[in-house]
Amino acid sequence: MTKRKVLVYGSLNLDYVYQVKHFPGPGETAAAETLHISSGGKGLNQAVAFAKAGAETYLAGKIGTDGQSLRDACEKYGIDTRYLMKEDSPGGHAVIQVDEKGQNSILVFGGTNKMHREEEMDQVLKDFQEGDYLILQNEINGLSYLIDAAWKKNMEIVLNPSPYEPSLMECGLQKLSWMILNEVEACQITGENQPEKVLEYFKEKYPDLKVVLTLGEEGAMCTTGETYCKVPCYKTETVDTTGAGDTFTGYYFAEIIRGRSPKEALDTASKAAAVTVSRKGAADAIPFLKEILDK
Ligand code: RIB
Repeated sequence: MTKRKVLVYGSLNLDYVYQVKHFPGPGETAAAETLHISSGGKGLNQAVAFAKAGAETYLAGKIGTDGQSLRDACEKYGIDTRYLMKEDSPGGHAVIQVDEKGQNSILVFGGTNKMHREEEMDQVLKDFQEGDYLILQNEINGLSYLIDAAWKKNMEIVLNPSPYEPSLMECGLQKLSWMILNEVEACQITGENQPEKVLEYFKEKYPDLKVVLTLGEEGAMCTTGETYCKVPCYKTETVDTTGAGDTFTGYYFAEIIRGRSPKEALDTASKAAAVTVSRKGAADAIPFLKEILDK
């Protein structure tokens, strides 16, 4: 069988992580207890998860003048960075508040993540072929173009619609192979709160789409047309939930590419996400496959 390559086309952010007692409300000023600056961005985090899970991973993205540490982080974890481009302006960053319960609140500034050009996308995609995986989130511009170009090449296209914006619905979603989303994004897209109703919505609107729905403490579920499965969540001490969804995405699809069943993939991804939640930070908190297999 041909080895499938993974191309994550997505964002890289410098994460400014502030530990707070509670999230300040409108008009309130609150003091942060600590500040930690680390590598993040949904594109980078998911690429790190794929690489740590053992997949051959390429990250296409745009850093700015402040982004050398992001490139270094990718290289440290074995991601192929030949498609990382640089612009002469500030890169993306995120202001992340983490409260005492480990819950987060994230504000993202796109910076160079919003400067992708179609001719660059064509250049990158020409090195990939039918059956290779394209992994997308919603922190870069040009998703519609990327989806269309990858679909013409018969690539397997995965969209994690995070953060959700209504314009995502105009992106040719019928060309996707997979959508992976959490319950908040699911409700934003479908208007439904109940997982079964969410899956029904997708089945009716996009009959060929395979869907993975993560439900926090309620576990995760998946429908592929032939299969429906659900796994519980692995309980852990919640230190910081940042990057848990990205860990899940990388691990789930690394396992699918390895030939595992959706149920097995859900189980491994849940284990990996539980480890991420038990540690501070995003990309650095994602476990290596060996740590998961030992569990
Ligand atoms: O999913 C977590 C990520 O969201 C953070 O690393 C932050 O950069 C934002 O993109």
